[in-house]
Amino acid sequence: MTEGIQNALNSAGPQADNIAGLWWLMFVVCTIVFVLVMIALLLAIKKRTREPQFDSTPILEPQPDQERRRRNVVVTCVAITAIVLFVFLIASFSAGRSMSAQTASKTGLTIDVTGFQWWWEIRYQDVDASNIFTTANEIHIPVGVPVTLNLRANDVIHSFWVPNLAGKKDLIPGKANTLWIQANKPGVYRGQCAEYCGLQHAHMAFWVVAESQEQFNAWRQNQTQTSVTPTTDSQKRGQQVFLSSTCVMCHTINGTPAASNVGPNLTHIASRNTIAAATLSNTRDHLYQWVKDSQSVKPGNRMPQHNLAEADFQALLDYLQSLK
Ligand code: CUA
Repeated sequence: MTEGIQNALNSAGPQADNIAGLWWLMFVVCTIVFVLVMIALLLAIKKRTREPQFDSTPILEPQPDQERRRRNVVVTCVAITAIVLFVFLIASFSAGRSMSAQTASKTGLTIDVTGFQWWWEIRYQDVDASNIFTTANEIHIPVGVPVTLNLRANDVIHSFWVPNLAGKKDLIPGKANTLWIQANKPGVYRGQCAEYCGLQHAHMAFWVVAESQEQFNAWRQNQTQTSVTPTTDSQKRGQQVFLSSTCVMCHTINGTPAASNVGPNLTHIASRNTIAAATLSNTRDHLYQWVKDSQSVKPGNRMPQHNLAEADFQALLDYLQSLK
């Protein structure tokens, strides 16, 4: 999964292409300038050491042709510097223009991303209300389709950053920011919060899964469904544990009385690849660790500890793992 590594120079979409292009332009030009300056410096040192060391006679009458030559060198270097800076200005301006162009709004795929301490609520908008659904910490997008992201924050300032796809954009309480992203090749791209937001800022990550339109449609179709009905006795008991413990006070599971938006929506928790804002892979062991004592994983997070009987824990895990 090398594409998952956060790398702004391994761009996978038009936004990141712009940033990578700008970066390479600056890197190449600045490298050439640096090398030329170093060569000039070495030549000057070499020339100076060849001249008599202790000749302290002041130059009262500089030679006119030498003066002219020096002036020409200075004027040429200033002109080259001005041209280089102007080229950077134009390149930066045009990259910024094409990145802020609102091409995405025409296509219709709009996702609301809300930052919480320390996780991401992901809500897919649709003109048809029955297609609207909420998930967390995992964004699926179809390849080649521009996607508009409406960025908001619930508590403090966060910043949305998927280096392989686009630049950073802040999520600010009381203000809606927009960013558009597009993936031009399928892959799984890691993103993270890029604005210090408290104790678990470092564990506020997420994944963007770019897939074919068919795969995306199948995923979306599943996400719009209400949660699966528990079938085994253990799953049924797990649902009762969920609904009769503190879980229900913070989470939503569509199709059950659980309908709180304090924590992530768990309607399809088992379909996600990670839990705890991409801190742990979504395995039974990790789920157990997280539900039992999440403070040992992410100290300071908003999830309380749970003191359930062991059998209740196992039933709860059976239920959560059935929520595909
Ligand atoms: Cu959210 Cu840093």
